[in-house]
Parts: sequence; structure tokens; C-alpha cells
Amino acid sequence: MIRKSRILGVGMYLPERAVPNTELEQIKALETSDEWIQQRTGIQSRHYVGSESGTDMACEASKIALEQAHLTTDDIDFIIFATLSPDHYFPGNGCFLQDQLFGDRPVGALDVRNQCTGFIYSLTMADSLIKSGQYDKILVVGAEVHSRGLDYTKEGRDVTVLFGDGAGAAVVGLAPEGHDGILSHALHSEGKYASALWLEYPCNAYDFFISHENLDAGVHYPKMQGRQVFKHATRRMVEVSKEVLGKTGKSVDDIDIVLFHQANLRINLMTASMLKIPEEKLVNTIQWSGNTTAATIPICMCEAVKQGKLHENDLVLLCGFGAGFTWAASLLYW
Ligand code: ACO
Repeated sequence: MIRKSRILGVGMYLPERAVPNTELEQIKALETSDEWIQQRTGIQSRHYVGSESGTDMACEASKIALEQAHLTTDDIDFIIFATLSPDHYFPGNGCFLQDQLFGDRPVGALDVRNQCTGFIYSLTMADSLIKSGQYDKILVVGAEVHSRGLDYTKEGRDVTVLFGDGAGAAVVGLAPEGHDGILSHALHSEGKYASALWLEYPCNAYDFFISHENLDAGVHYPKMQGRQVFKHATRRMVEVSKEVLGKTGKSVDDIDIVLFHQANLRINLMTASMLKIPEEKLVNTIQWSGNTTAATIPICMCEAVKQGKLHENDLVLLCGFGAGFTWAASLLYW
């Protein structure tokens, strides 16, 4: 039997506190408005953590994914955790999740640092580890706590209004005979654009980690060239979507549902229109979740299931673009 993998269950967690644009509007130093945010991004609200960490949220999302898959942690062979906002600089969140969720069972844990494409990169790794026979069931998680590290002044408003906190998880496992599971992936990076979307400090690249002057200048907040990112995102998402379709001989018309990374509703609508994908095949959550980076795609999966839009054997396109730059897509049967 040729080993194939599929998604067995998904789960998500959003913190209780919803932060509508109108709340951000109240922060004088941010100088933003509900109208600007909605017009440029489609975002109406996002969630911010209370006392939770990224690992806490990942743990809750994982429990739901396991329940949906009718499995327990005893069935899981490995953890892959994607995040750009880890609980600590090291060790990675995978280790903290192992502790919280698996206790005395010392399963392996890998952290993936690919920002908005982190979930697709992680899914690719899980698929490959299952196909190779290394493991049978892998927990793939994306979780982000953005709200504690954003610049709530005019200087950072372009980035700050985009992000929300949250987690999404998927259990990836061996597909039963007759199910084609995950078909193809395409992963790309182009590091020459790293500084167009990055968090430069603290760092080990220069001769000091971070200075008081750095902190005063706010360089420990994410910085983005929004227009440049937007332009590259639409072009690359179209390209990489066609690439995964081409690898499997499928066409756009074969796709039942599209789950794009949630960075900007306009990016997603433009990409879909360039690919000639009808809007009703998209599931977007950015309106109420904001950009939860590595968590967006599993959150979209949960929403698609909730809306009754994802059925057994539907052909699903996943696609995203983000910091690095990195861009990626996967094509799979649900
Ligand atoms: N509120 C009010 N005004 C704002 C805000 C804000 N939150 N942010 C920027 N502006 C102002 C700018 O200062 C500028 O003012 P000016 O004309 O007086 O100079 C004006 O709005 C237009 O700014 P632009 O940056 O040109 O606005 P744009 O239409 O490009 O929208 C946005 C900005 C929403 C950030 C858009 O460029 C975008 O979504 N880019 C891609 C984001 C993305 O995909 N990121 C990748 C994922 S994140 C990750 O990987 C970690």
C-alpha cells in the first residue's frame, strides 16, 4: 500500500476578548479609524489574549482537533508547532506543548518559523514524515500572541491593526485505503525581501542584542512595507496555486474550496479573481479574527467545517504569503 496522509481533525481557539476596530479607534496615539481598517483590510474585529500564552491556546485547539479525530494524545507520534511569536526565545513552543498536553510522554517536537506560511510548511513536513513511514499521526499547530508585541502608536498602526491572537490545530494521519489525502505542496522563499516585513530586534546578527536606544526607537516592533508585501502576495499566491494544481494535473475548476492565509481580504479577493475562482468557494475569517499568522489556515478549516462547506473528499486549496518573503500552497482531499 502506498502511504498517503490526510487531515483527521481540526480545532481552534480564540481568546475571549474581542477587540473591534472601534476599540482601536479609541487609542489616541494609534490615529486610526474603523473606516480605514475596514476599507483597506476587511477587518472588523480581532481577539486579544487575557492571561493565555501561545502554548495555552495551542493546547486548547489541539484538544478539539484530537476530539474531532476521535483520538487521544496517546495516538500522536510527533508535534509540529508553527509560530512567529513564541512564548520564549528558546526553547520552542513545541516543547511547552509537549509538557502541557503529553505530560510524561516525551514525543518529539519541532518548531517551524515560517510566519504566515508556517502552517503550510508544517503540513508539508507532517505529510512527508507520514509518507516516509516515520510516523502515523502528527499534531500540527499554529498559534500566535501578537497583541503583546505591537506598536500602539501612529508609527506602527499599519501593522498593528492587522493582527489578532489565536490558535488552530490539525491532526494529520495515515489516510485509509482509497482516500487520496494530501496531493501536493509547493514551498518558496526569497530572503532578499526579509526587511520588507520583519522584526529586527532583539537579534544576534549585530554586535549587540538590543540597546536602550533601540528600545526607545521602537525597533523591537514588527515593521512592514505594506504596498510591497501586497503586490508580491497577489502575484506569488496566484503562481504557487497554479504550481500545485499543475503538479497534480488538476484545474481551478476541480477545486471545491479555497482557504487562503488571512492577511488582507483585498489580497484574497484579488488573488481569487486572478485565478478565476468564484468568491463562494472562499472561506475568509479575517473579518472577525484579523491576521493570526500561522493559525489562520487551521482556523479557516474550522470555520469551513462549521459553515458546512467542507465535505469528505472535497478538493481543497491552501495558499499563503508572508514574511521572509515566503509563499506556499497545498492541494488536498478533505
Ligand atoms: N490607520 C489609518 N491610516 C493608516 C493606517 C491605519 N491603521 N495604516 C497606514 N495608514 C495611512 C498611511 O500612513 C498612509 O498615509 P499617507 O497617505 O498620509 O502617507 C495611508 O494610510 C496609505 O498607506 P498605505 O500603506 O499605502 O495603505 P495601503 O492601502 O497599502 O494599506 C496595508 C496598508 C493594509 C498594510 C496593505 O498594504 C496590506 O495589507 N499589505 C499587505 C499586508 C500583508 O499581507 N502582510 C503579510 C502578512 S503578515 C506576516 O507575514 C507576519
